[in-house]
Amino acid sequence: MVSYKDLGLVNTKEMFQKAFEGGYAIPAFNFNNMEQMQAIVQACVETSSPVILQVSSGARKYANQTLLRYMAQGAVEYAKELGKNIPIVLHLDHGDTFELCKSCVDMGFSSVMIDGSHHSYEENVALTKKVVEYAHAHGVTVEGELGVLAGVEDDVCAEHHTYTEPDQVEDFVKKTGVDSLAISIGTSHGANKFTPAQCTTNADGVLVPPALRFDILEEIEKRIPGFPIVLHGASSVPQDLVAVINNNGGAMKNAIGIPEEQLRKAAASAVCKINIDSDGRIAMTASIRKTFNENPAEFDPRKYLGPARDGLKDLYMHKVNNVLGSANKA
Ligand code: G3H
Ligand code: 13P
Ligand code: ZN
Repeated sequence: MVSYKDLGLVNTKEMFQKAFEGGYAIPAFNFNNMEQMQAIVQACVETSSPVILQVSSGARKYANQTLLRYMAQGAVEYAKELGKNIPIVLHLDHGDTFELCKSCVDMGFSSVMIDGSHHSYEENVALTKKVVEYAHAHGVTVEGELGVLAGVEDDVCAEHHTYTEPDQVEDFVKKTGVDSLAISIGTSHGANKFTPAQCTTNADGVLVPPALRFDILEEIEKRIPGFPIVLHGASSVPQDLVAVINNNGGAMKNAIGIPEEQLRKAAASAVCKINIDSDGRIAMTASIRKTFNENPAEFDPRKYLGPARDGLKDLYMHKVNNVLGSANKA
């Protein structure tokens, strides 16, 4: 049993309160390897931003949970070494069972998500409440979810959005005791969030996806005033990076994300945490493809992972500075 407090990590409580009051959102970046972790820490130290390091079930399978936890502990020390003691949360992304959440609490995670959104409302309440009781006994904060995002979430695939029902949120928060709530208002996971047919074309010939359901968000805010909201599936899928991928041998088709101005608007509201994973994958892939295309003889991983890490850092700094508004809030 290890407490996150002994690792220099923090939970989300104070972080979200400040984000809510300050009208910004905390970046929640997924990591699976050393280069991603380095890019996140470098970017957040340089911008002086608090940060949430997210570990998904897929990341646990890929990289091993123990190793990832030690990397997060290393991130705290690395940030200090870079000259800034920024607040860092280690968060389980999309936990699906009590046992998984418990194991993360026991090994030093400071925050867990229990995603019961694919269960019935009653089962979601019961599962989330059980996780909250265990996590809170150890000072760990909990994110719950109501509503289902379209697209693939781990192994579960939903064809359509089931938007969060504002009538349920107050009851859910009261019964479960969660510290934050992920909602469904039109975002989705991955790089293909909308089909071109769902978009309109503007005067410059650029595809414009349908707007997020800010009306639902406003209703939710009325029911649970001051409560931290989380947005999953919030990558913007930068078209310049998709073009780099496709111009260097890639085949990303119809990749469309959430426009950044909509995320800026969300960050200024009760949305206190914004999850970004796909954009980081795209930034790394663009850089690696370009390196290989331009230097086909290259075989030293540092020569392609190094520039990819730099590209990732630039992307994260842009998010913090221009989208989430969390710069200088550490
Ligand atoms: O919610 C999904 C995240 O992007 C994590 O994805 O399960 O492939 O690691 P993953
Ligand atoms: P994206 O696929 O839009 O980056 O969403 C990531 C996410 O929600 C992780 O939980
Ligand atoms: Zn997610």
